[in-house]
Amino acid sequence: MATKQKIQFVCQECGDSFPRWEGKCSSCGQWNTLVEEKVASEKSKTATKNLFRGGGVGGVRPGPIPLNQVDVLAETRRMTGIDEFDRILGGGIVAGSVTLIGGEPGIGKSTLMLQVALQMAGAGSPSLYVSGEESLEQTRLRAGRLGAVSEHLLCLGETQVETIGEHIQAVRPSCVILDSIQTAWSEESGSAPGSVSQIRDSAAHLITLCKHIHVPLFLVGHVTKSGVVAGPRVLEHMVDTVLYFEGDQHHNFRILRAVKNRFGSTNEIGIFEMGGSGLAEVKNPSELFLQERPEGASGSVVVPALEGTRPLLVEIQALTAPNGGFGAARRSANGLDQRRVALLIAVLEKRIGLRMFDQDVYVNIAGGVKVEEPAADLAALSAMVSSFQGVAIDQKTVVLGEVGLAGEIRSVSHLDKRLAEAARLGFTRAVTAPWQKNRAPAGIKIIGVKNVGDALKALEIY
Ligand code: TYD
Ligand code: MG
Repeated sequence: MATKQKIQFVCQECGDSFPRWEGKCSSCGQWNTLVEEKVASEKSKTATKNLFRGGGVGGVRPGPIPLNQVDVLAETRRMTGIDEFDRILGGGIVAGSVTLIGGEPGIGKSTLMLQVALQMAGAGSPSLYVSGEESLEQTRLRAGRLGAVSEHLLCLGETQVETIGEHIQAVRPSCVILDSIQTAWSEESGSAPGSVSQIRDSAAHLITLCKHIHVPLFLVGHVTKSGVVAGPRVLEHMVDTVLYFEGDQHHNFRILRAVKNRFGSTNEIGIFEMGGSGLAEVKNPSELFLQERPEGASGSVVVPALEGTRPLLVEIQALTAPNGGFGAARRSANGLDQRRVALLIAVLEKRIGLRMFDQDVYVNIAGGVKVEEPAADLAALSAMVSSFQGVAIDQKTVVLGEVGLAGEIRSVSHLDKRLAEAARLGFTRAVTAPWQKNRAPAGIKIIGVKNVGDALKALEIY
């Protein structure tokens, strides 16, 4: 008697499965994400189970043992030589680690991974770049642009993970890059290519294998507009490290951010610049972000922001213009939170008495960077007032502080680190909350201000 093929409905966002179709996933609350899929075969389920148990492929399962009798494995790491990349990983690539690199299409994931593969390619241990998206010729072309076509970098145009696995076992590479996980498919999974089950099963197969033979694995994944890796959010739980590559299509800067790292901190970011010959590391980002700053223009101010543990000086620009009394005034924020800007405008209206309701307000961070911390509040507010009044803020002054609803200025974290970076770039004055006056590094004078009114006076713009 033929057995009936079992089906299930799998949420393409969170990967949870249900016996019946529903309009809304009851696990993650997303609408219209349930897709019919065949239930995975017993074989691939076992593989996935083994993975999460940490067991090898078909090994004997050990019982519990005292922790102090567990062998101390020296964590072996290998540097890629790309400092920004090594730092994000926590100091090089750990043997047998699995890393997911997410990012929007065209941001530079393939370029970065090819550069990593080139660095990891050496005599005796080649690196393996598996491309399911581009032809080998395209990859060759790209490698040519990057300046090095190594004989130790092996390329494979394959999407079926069982075959990829066989090659990995045969070659024993120094690292494997799968570009991208969304194109991979597994024989054992009965679901359609590109579906969550297919991605999960394919990843599980390769992760199990690479962990077993201690080969580092990099999975490239595309990201949807909302900022999650398309479909396989489940992947985030299966891998050791999740990196996001972000940036603006119209700017050359790219920021690599760790959102999960079992082998290091998640606070680190790496900054790259896309150029004619691939991604170049940016060692002194503040200088780069400030180099095009206009001199003596109103509406421009510098804030020492913090990206992870790294201080980053960015220029906030504001422009206010009367809207001519037609409809509601426009408020547009680029690189800053729009709601935060609206709140700052309200504070200006209420606490200072500035007439902003008939003004269109545009606030922008130069260079395509995003600053989402409240430490940039006072700078954004000062830039708006500076533009409104048509009075420039002193070039050598940085402004930082969170603005409360009562118009009070609150202190920011890691002030010393931020100000040290400002001092390094030649700034001499910082306008901020008064509570941390004693923490100024050499070369910087802190002007403590209790509220917005005091701040605007100190900046001589109101
Ligand atoms: P790519 O790595 O293909 O992005 P992803 O894999 O994330 O989709 O990067 C593509 C973009 O990078 C493309 O617009 C061309 C640009 N690029 C350069 O500007 N310089 C270079 O040296 C390379 C290789 C790409
Ligand atoms: Mg690509």
